[in-house]
Amino acid sequence: MKKAFVLLVLGISAIMAADSAKLYGAKCAECHGMDGKDTSVAGKAIAGGSGALAKLTGYKNGTFGGDQKVIMEGNVATLSDADMKAIASYVDTLK
Ligand code: HEC
Repeated sequence: MKKAFVLLVLGISAIMAADSAKLYGAKCAECHGMDGKDTSVAGKAIAGGSGALAKLTGYKNGTFGGDQKVIMEGNVATLSDADMKAIASYVDTLK
């Protein structure tokens, strides 16, 4: 019983990880690169950072951002909380 639960949780995490990478690829990679190291648009890499969820939330409610924050505000405006969490968890794995 316990084993089945662990397998279930592992399975769900694997599915979620795949989803977050897919979401990131569709919504973010164009500017930040799939590895988060593209600096051509944002001027800095997002790989190697931490607290992506706090940053994304900040862009959404206007409490975080630099000179080009309008670009990111547009990107997160249409994301659901669940999508933002999934994408942020992917971004935090980028080193
Ligand atoms: C159209 C290009 C574009 C897309 C698409 C885009 N970004 Fe950005 N991103 C930027 C720019 C430009 C900045 C710098 C904004 C500023 O001045 O605060 C930025 C900044 C960021 C930062 C903050 C970096 C820091 O530490 O200051 C994070 C995190 C980030 N983006 C994540 C994402 C995620 C996750 C997605 C997908 C939902 C995404 N971006 C989609 C252009 C983009």
